[in-house]
Amino acid sequence: MKKPMTFLLVLGMLISLAACGGTTSRQNSSAPPADSQTTEATSEVSREQSEQPQNTDENESSNILVAYFTWADNTVVADPSSVDVDAATSASVLAPGNAAKLASWIQQEVGGDLHSIVVEEPYSSDYDECLDRAADEKADNARPALASHVDNMEDYDIVFLGFPNWWYTLPMPVLTFVEEYDWSGKTVVPFVTHGTGGLASTIRDLTAALPEDATILEPIGVYRPEVDGAQSAVQEWIAGLNLELPQEGNGQSQEEETSAMENTRRIWFSLDDGAEIIVQLNDNPAADALYEMLPLELSFEDFNRTEKIAYLPEEIPSDGSPDQCDPDVGSLCCYIPWGNLCFFYQDFRASSSLIPLGQVETGAEFLAQLDLASRVAVEAADGET
Ligand SMILES: Cc1cc2nc3c(=O)[nH]c(=O)nc-3n(C[C@H](O)[C@H](O)[C@H](O)COP(=O)(O)O)c2cc1C
Repeated sequence: MKKPMTFLLVLGMLISLAACGGTTSRQNSSAPPADSQTTEATSEVSREQSEQPQNTDENESSNILVAYFTWADNTVVADPSSVDVDAATSASVLAPGNAAKLASWIQQEVGGDLHSIVVEEPYSSDYDECLDRAADEKADNARPALASHVDNMEDYDIVFLGFPNWWYTLPMPVLTFVEEYDWSGKTVVPFVTHGTGGLASTIRDLTAALPEDATILEPIGVYRPEVDGAQSAVQEWIAGLNLELPQEGNGQSQEEETSAMENTRRIWFSLDDGAEIIVQLNDNPAADALYEMLPLELSFEDFNRTEKIAYLPEEIPSDGSPDQCDPDVGSLCCYIPWGNLCFFYQDFRASSSLIPLGQVETGAEFLAQLDLASRVAVEAADGET
């Protein structure tokens, strides 16, 4: 039998978020009807309500993955400046997508690694065309092939798994993702963003795709127009999960931890629209060289829909640094053949041409817009968090 989900603590929040969906429909008229979906979500919650809260003591020393699917990472927009970000139907095509914003706030709270689920064949950036393909994939119970994969899923005990409601259920690529790995014994924490339809059948269908011995904790559902203001709701939801999160610096004495904190170097990327990204630098000669070059003014460009790259005024030495890197979302690397910085906003395969320089601590949601800034200032941010 599946272990019980705990809905008690967030029930009020879920219902209020789903209920907001009834106020205004901002969806395209060809989008699925909403009212019946809201009812379905509410009855799903009621069914689970009688079950006992989940004790998460077993998660004490776990590692965490925050994986998400979002339309913006799964489409190509030829001319981003032509997108009307105020139009509800087109808002999601520009990164960061709604599920990505929630993922980033979750990562800020719990740590762990971010992973964007990306299909091999991108969806159309046209809302109606995307709806049509998603409807066909649902009707065919399709499993669209993925371009991004998690190489070390066995290392993660807790997986936050996020996605939008597509046609009352999960986008089919999320099922491809789920079926790619062994979830036995893992704790899965769903987060869903939706239109007026609420959670609909998303959690039921996710539950059906997971093995009996996976533990599914209470989801959060965030109504699309409320995503931008939902960081505190995400924080409250996570606090209510009562997860026992792994301690940073496990095994270190207080003195060692303080000294490690003092020696941690952070660098600060400021975009001209006020967005900020803070990176914790690695301890290697290449990262030292980058730190010595600061302050810098860089301009980024997109590369391969995976990374934002910028050229440096001086060469970064490759001697003495790791000559292998398996970048995740938020990894800052140097590409040895060209000597450029690369900031990964998508997961990428391991490469012996990359030197790892650091990892984003905060602001991962702004990585995808680095190339939209005309100048990016980079400074040392010692002591900042
Ligand atoms: C193909 C498609 C199907 C959708 N179907 C639904 C639906 O059935 N019910 C609903 O409430 N919202 C639906 N939506 C709206 C999305 O769930 C909502 O816009 C979400 O916030 C998008 O998240 P994202 O930016 O991470 O992709 C749909 C959106 C798309 C693109």
